[in-house]
Amino acid sequence: MDAELRQLRLDHPHPEPLMALGQQLRRRYSSEQAIWLLQQLEMYWDAQRLQAFRQPLELHFEAQALQMGSRWPLAERRALELAQRYPGLWLLEIGGGIGGDSLELARTRAFRTVEQEDLRRRYLEHNLKTGGFGEVEVRGGDGLTQAKGAQVLYADPARRNAKGRQWHDLAPNPADLWNLGLPCCLKLSPGLDESQLPPGCDLDYVSHQGVCKEATVWMPGSGQVRAFLHGQDAWLVAERRQPPPLGPLEPGMWLHEPDPAAIRAQVWEPRQGWRVDERLALLATPAGLASQWTQAFEVLEIADADRKNLIRLQKKYDFQPLEIKKRGFDVEPEELRKKLPRGRGGGAGVLYLTRVGGRHRAVICRRV
Ligand SMILES: C[S@@+](CC[C@H](N)C(=O)[O-])C[C@H]1O[C@@H](n2cnc3c(N)ncnc32)[C@H](O)[C@@H]1O
Repeated sequence: MDAELRQLRLDHPHPEPLMALGQQLRRRYSSEQAIWLLQQLEMYWDAQRLQAFRQPLELHFEAQALQMGSRWPLAERRALELAQRYPGLWLLEIGGGIGGDSLELARTRAFRTVEQEDLRRRYLEHNLKTGGFGEVEVRGGDGLTQAKGAQVLYADPARRNAKGRQWHDLAPNPADLWNLGLPCCLKLSPGLDESQLPPGCDLDYVSHQGVCKEATVWMPGSGQVRAFLHGQDAWLVAERRQPPPLGPLEPGMWLHEPDPAAIRAQVWEPRQGWRVDERLALLATPAGLASQWTQAFEVLEIADADRKNLIRLQKKYDFQPLEIKKRGFDVEPEELRKKLPRGRGGGAGVLYLTRVGGRHRAVICRRV
């Protein structure tokens, strides 16, 4: 069915209603084949939207593995860094899934990958062959028992349950991997508890499409923590540093909301910025200081944030559309919106409800 699947994807490259297409396919194929083709087509659309694979056209997907899979720009960066940190060492990947990482690792080295689930392993084999990497050794079973001869490990553990907060909620369990005593790279959730990591490892928080997608742990390391942000065509990187001093927020200044990876890694970019509240990651700078690490807002006014005042402010600025943002402020933006007058001619504006110098404030601003 591979040729048929390829043609179907070429003929239907973008999401569309499946009903009519399903009927057409059922006329030409058995209902089992038609269902498989349709599912593969839908997952292809998802893969493209998620940037899950560099070249998804001929790949086979399994729904859960696709959702868990790495986005290819992130997988590529990790594979390149693995090659740089551990040149020439024999790599074992434990838990290849359907190949989000394996396909990028394969561009940099020969290695072995182990996937315990049969369907995923079959798809992984297919995807590697289709990608031109048929020489990668794919095995089944428990990868933890197949580490003999490996010199470096890579794993992207799956969550066993919705919590996924403890190491034993993950498969494979990171602690079991570290206990193998080999250099290793692990892709973990950015919500991890840093205090649970082995001492001295390096940690990267990585953003993609505005979301902090993952934390990459390198063992051994030197305790460095970095943020990576996938820009237009290159990676930005910054290292953890001490929080900058506190300072004022005044009309005319720019308020900066950092990218989520920058917040987790505490890189405090832009460097010239100061904090506006000791409990928040928001920064302020003089006007004109743009940074790729932040969304910036030009501050027009700072005022009390009681309901009466918010109504007065919206009447004054007449924002339409009105964007309501909050940081460290207990409010439901959509509920609040219903209570504010609808703007008409004031153009786009932002009501930023946050804390400034320990006080709840309404910061009226425009996106830069
Ligand atoms: C999050 S997925 C990997 C996704 C993959 N990195 C990608 O980007 O497509 C984790 C995979 O590890 C497999 N796995 C978990 N524990 C394993 C073990 N001990 N040995 C082999 N595979 C394992 C699971 O079946 C699952 O497919």
